[in-house]
Amino acid sequence: MYKTIIRPVLFLFQPETIHHLIVNLLKFGFKIPGLSYIIKSYYLVKDNRLKTTFLGLEFNNPVGFAAGFDKNAEVYNQFSEFGFSFIEIGTVTPIPQPGNPKPRSFRIPLDKGLINRMGFNNKGVDFAVNQLKNKKHNVIIGGNIGKNTATPNENALNDYDICFEKLYDHVDYLVVNLSCPNIKDLHKLQDADSTINILNSLIEKRSNKTIRKPILLKISPDLTDNQLDDVIETFRITGIDGIVATNTTTTRDGLKTNKETIDKIANGGLSGKPLTKRSTEIIRYLNKKSGGTIPIIGVGGIMSVEDALEKLDAGATLIQIYTGFIYEGPAFVKMINKAILSTRK
Ligand SMILES: Cc1cc2nc3c(=O)[nH]c(=O)nc-3n(C[C@H](O)[C@H](O)[C@H](O)COP(=O)(O)O)c2cc1C
Repeated sequence: MYKTIIRPVLFLFQPETIHHLIVNLLKFGFKIPGLSYIIKSYYLVKDNRLKTTFLGLEFNNPVGFAAGFDKNAEVYNQFSEFGFSFIEIGTVTPIPQPGNPKPRSFRIPLDKGLINRMGFNNKGVDFAVNQLKNKKHNVIIGGNIGKNTATPNENALNDYDICFEKLYDHVDYLVVNLSCPNIKDLHKLQDADSTINILNSLIEKRSNKTIRKPILLKISPDLTDNQLDDVIETFRITGIDGIVATNTTTTRDGLKTNKETIDKIANGGLSGKPLTKRSTEIIRYLNKKSGGTIPIIGVGGIMSVEDALEKLDAGATLIQIYTGFIYEGPAFVKMINKAILSTRK
């Protein structure tokens, strides 16, 4: 029903309009008595064989919602009722910011993809902290942190420090996002020295905490093999806990959508099917080259249950979806969990 009736209607509207509609439906619709129960009984797959331990955290299953949808930590509990075992909130920045001018999110259905240049639109870290403080969590929460667009790269460290410090007590793990293609010059912070500098500072801050929470680095799918070797080295030098692979890509190779449409959309990070192969290759490369020592959350173009199983097979312990949820609908999580179950004794 989602693909034949609901999706065609949703796709008549701008992606961002639908995004707001869904967030509001989740926020207010779940107040209808009994709805939460109905959703859970339809979508949740409960089975001990799905339980996954990752970096000391116990996940009910390996499937999470990737960063960028629940940017302000408003609907994480509702998402858990569709079967996600973890939600990554953010990217949050120290100060609220509107992001890039609209329109800034585009579907390319022929390729089962999305191109976005949202630019870290968010209500700021304090808003997210308040949300997290005031609501019990039914789900594991990752906190994805970034820098404000107006902050020059020389001062980026301070922005990451602020978000880290404020979010730390309210999330289960943290993700350092240096790989968003939509923040001017952010990618330059992905060179080994800058990355190590930021991560070292966060690791030092963590050493003063009573509870040790995992810190992961989210990487771009556009890194070369040499740069991936640097990522492995960075993982070793800094002592971070894992890698989230990958963010969206700036490449536009092999698309079915005509060039004119793609050129008209212009800049942005591409997600969905065109990203599947590269993102899985990166997971496989990191896993192989590190001898399986890097804990990996695999994300990027999981559009079918086969894509999900391939990511796990390539070396990811957990997976996340975003674009797949838009194209395949809410039952997608259940389908993936059932497929994972069929591979486990
Ligand atoms: C509209 C949109 C906004 C996103 N915003 C963020 C973000 O704020 N921070 C982040 O780390 N990733 C963000 N992402 C990237 C996703 O978390 C994910 O890494 C990427 O989309 C690849 O997964 P997918 O192919 O399943 O969508 C965003 C993706 C989309 C489509």
